[in-house]
Amino acid sequence: ESYDMGGHDTYMHKEISEQADAVDRVLRGRIDDRFATVHLGGLNLDAREARGVRRIKILGCGTSYHAGQIGAQLIEELARIPADAEPASEFRYRNPVVDPDTLYVAVSQSGETYDVLAAVQELKRKGARVLGVVNVVGSAIAREADGGTYVHAGPEVCVVSTKCFTNTVVAFALLALHLGRIRDLSVADGKRIIDGLRRLPAQISEILANEDEIKKMAAEYADAKSMMFIGRVRGFPVAREAALKLKEVSYIHAEAYPASELKHGPLALIEPAMPTVAIVPDDDLLEKNRAALEEIKARSGRILAVAHQVQEKADHTIVVPKNENELDPILMGIPLQLFAYHTALAMGRDIDKPRNLAKSVTVE
Ligand code: G6P
Repeated sequence: ESYDMGGHDTYMHKEISEQADAVDRVLRGRIDDRFATVHLGGLNLDAREARGVRRIKILGCGTSYHAGQIGAQLIEELARIPADAEPASEFRYRNPVVDPDTLYVAVSQSGETYDVLAAVQELKRKGARVLGVVNVVGSAIAREADGGTYVHAGPEVCVVSTKCFTNTVVAFALLALHLGRIRDLSVADGKRIIDGLRRLPAQISEILANEDEIKKMAAEYADAKSMMFIGRVRGFPVAREAALKLKEVSYIHAEAYPASELKHGPLALIEPAMPTVAIVPDDDLLEKNRAALEEIKARSGRILAVAHQVQEKADHTIVVPKNENELDPILMGIPLQLFAYHTALAMGRDIDKPRNLAKSVTVE
């Protein structure tokens, strides 16, 4: 892709629309069907070293941090290596214990975010092994890391990240699959995930074809001063990223919470003026998520669900195509990018350059 607007009014809209092609690009040439394995040339981590990894710590800021949260879940699910994500800025200021058996992964669209770069430099100084999951080729973080993978999202101009988020999560799925197949993921499960990854571009196009309906939903909820976003396990980072998107472009206050934690506080906020966006995948937690919708409905809360089937308790449902359970988070956030976009557009916001924000924060 180029910097040309290609008929779109904003870069955000252009970049959202490019996601099927972008995902196709990150997958291209990296899958070996014979062994259901993945080839990530730049990792600099051989099979013996990969087997020695006891823990994975993912570091990033903003949207990249959220992509890292989904990445950590994918690594735990597919490779069974304990993994978690943390904002790079928090990590570097808390004098973290740097463990030789931990593999560190720095995530960044620009590859220039100062907090991430400083965390990488501190880790390197302490002898840790650091991989980069980066979009901009040859950027500072890519150069500083011991190895890694590019996410091939193409140039992203809008301050608010969309296609790079999606591609970063797909890159993590590839990394998780790679590590999984070196460890205990079976050939059959590897094939299942590969087939799922290959379905993503067409399913993304299907979601984007629904833009008119999503625009109508945005109009339904545009009167809200504040919105709650909920999800559980795989759905929680999706909810966090969707809330961040809405905040960044529309300036509407949005709060993301694990669905299970509602009853421990935020339920007090629920009333008709505080709508909830709920991530409700068709997985083993479906009934639990439905129970959360009931709790909200009982308090007269309005609900917009993003789900694989229409949710009776919700006022509106955006139905998205089903993939493998592990890969569903990649798709479920995409309609909510359009939701944030259309909300902000209706409010006349400066979509590509929201107030007070910068595309890349290269200072402390
Ligand atoms: C800034 C941008 C965010 C972005 C974050 C991390 O705050 O406004 O959209 O997610 O930096 O940027 P990076 O380039 O490291 O992914």
